[in-house]
Amino acid sequence: MAEDLSISTPYTNHYFSSLAPAMLQFVPLLHRWQAGPAATRLPTQDRFNYVEFGCGQALSLLIMAAGNPNATFYGIDYSAAHIARARRMADQAGLANVVLMERAFEDMKPEDLPPIDMAVLHGVYSWIPPAARDALVDVIDRHLRPGGIVYVSYNTLTSWTALLPIQKLLTEFAAQASGSPEDRARKALDFLEKLLETNSGHFKDAKALAAWLKHTKGGDIRYVLHEYFVSHWEPTPHSEVAARFGRAKLNYVGTCDVVDTLDRFILQPAASKALSEVPAGPLRETAGDLMRNNGFRRDVYVRGPVATTPSEWRDRVREQRFALIRRRDRCGMSAKFPIGTVELNKEAFDPALDRLADGPATLGDLLPIMGETQDGNALRRLVTMVAAGYAAPCPPVDADPGPSDRLNRVLADEVALGHSHDVLASPVLGAGARVATPRIVALAKDTPPPAPGAPEEPDYLAERRLMDNLRVRLRRG
Ligand SMILES: C[S@@+](CC[C@H](N)C(=O)[O-])C[C@H]1O[C@@H](n2cnc3c(N)ncnc32)[C@H](O)[C@@H]1O
Repeated sequence: MAEDLSISTPYTNHYFSSLAPAMLQFVPLLHRWQAGPAATRLPTQDRFNYVEFGCGQALSLLIMAAGNPNATFYGIDYSAAHIARARRMADQAGLANVVLMERAFEDMKPEDLPPIDMAVLHGVYSWIPPAARDALVDVIDRHLRPGGIVYVSYNTLTSWTALLPIQKLLTEFAAQASGSPEDRARKALDFLEKLLETNSGHFKDAKALAAWLKHTKGGDIRYVLHEYFVSHWEPTPHSEVAARFGRAKLNYVGTCDVVDTLDRFILQPAASKALSEVPAGPLRETAGDLMRNNGFRRDVYVRGPVATTPSEWRDRVREQRFALIRRRDRCGMSAKFPIGTVELNKEAFDPALDRLADGPATLGDLLPIMGETQDGNALRRLVTMVAAGYAAPCPPVDADPGPSDRLNRVLADEVALGHSHDVLASPVLGAGARVATPRIVALAKDTPPPAPGAPEEPDYLAERRLMDNLRVRLRRG
């Protein structure tokens, strides 16, 4: 087994919106399944338990915890440095609903966790040995409630196969190199560059590999160490992941890449038709990944999903609330999807976007504004906005803003000290809202707003409006 160079180097600390409880509830709803706490209620109406395995420094977990103060958030990671950093931040923000555990998945005991409603693992599954994968599934099997939701992201075989021998070469080189883990990784990448320059055999005209190497050498070395210099690096087809999670009675229900429900934005019509002829299930998912060249999946599984009746689904979908997460003036009609840039129909989208620019609304509120009578059509339009990064599903009611305000103060103070966060907690989303780093610095320093008529005023007002709608603020003082 190759040495794991990542263990002693803390990972990067990024926020991932697909881990939001409201998003995890939205995916089964989209596919007409009941799932989540008590399977009939949306999470923030009640208490729920959420666990992140391999939480790293836990920025996502802390933001979700601040945005959902009536739920309890458990973060598990075997890195002492990660857990220490996360705990310090949770304490500074006074987040009472966070439990952080320095623990290997393989060493978890039944008493470590209560019954769980949602379990997530992001950037973990493809990078750990089979024994750790099995241990994770056992822990989930032991604790996940019926109707519970699991999110797992992983690299598929689709676009990573060419890198398999290269990753082995890099880790073998690093094993015999000297210096810190960072030095050894850099030396391994330099070694690969030399081999590429020979332009021979496997390296002949290897343009994609050269581009990957350039990108990797220019990247954050902490990311590179955790991505490629781990003991196990195993891109996996969907069918294998689905089979492993199947052991914990988990059924695949859909993906957080909600654009997957919009066929025409993914594949050309002939390809779409060919894919629809593949039997539904793991085979279609794997074939779809190959046809789309999709190298990264964000699967959602449910333990015992129950199909909704058409009227149950209509009621639930009409109650679903959405919020705008991008400045209205930046929600353009040219949007990027897997198939390429698509021109959206202004008349179909503008009324809903304008309404959401005034604050969150349910699909039921938006139906008449969109001039739609069909729930399915209206939902497809909302999903298009979600896939374009304009809107997000959010819980039915706003949370107590106190914990978000306090965490935002901690994040802003860190930004003022040179950290590069671009997200703050929103009690409306129960999740994070992207905020430009300079705006966070301005908030941290209580910089006065631009003078009326100043060139920067329109930007300031547009950002201010978005943040007010999402109730993104700092605790004062
Ligand atoms: C690539 S990082 C991902 C961190 C975070 N989820 C993110 O996406 O930013 C993988 C994390 O899993 C943790 N990890 C890896 N193997 C583990 C194991 N067997 N038990 C517990 N934690 C583990 C590492 O310490 C690291 O924080």
